Amino acid sequence: MDELIEAAKQQRERAYVPYSHFAVGAAVTVDGHVFTGCNIENASYGLSLCAERNAMFAAVMAGYTHLDAIAVIADTPGPVSPCGACRQVMTEFFAPDAPVTLTNLKGDTLETTVSASLPGAFEKGDMNA
Ligand code: THU
Repeated sequence: MDELIEAAKQQRERAYVPYSHFAVGAAVTVDGHVFTGCNIENASYGLSLCAERNAMFAAVMAGYTHLDAIAVIADTPGPVSPCGACRQVMTEFFAPDAPVTLTNLKGDTLETTVSASLPGAFEKGDMNA
């Protein structure tokens, strides 16, 4: 897991955050591969994309839709808290018990799971009549 945190930390250095100045890094692992993401903002603020989604979508674009674990890091007082949209996207691509590691630059770490991150998430099955 330290390796995944380190990958997230490295990618965080590439965050494009001229508006919030809040850099986030994320890394996902699947079948021994690591995909990373950072947040990328835009002058049209609503177009900004979170680190977590960029990391997950990088894995999906490489052909993986069943991901194993995710780590997220930012310079926060405690372990970084992923936004609701990213929690929803995690629900799509990870098993409910997949490990989610939330940390900060000081090393405060919270180990949780995808299902614990978003109780009541909207899922495929919710669309069945
Ligand atoms: N952000 C992330 O990248 N991940 C999170 O978990 C929380 C928020 C980004 C979005 C925006 O670029 C900046 O942090 C401030 O909201």
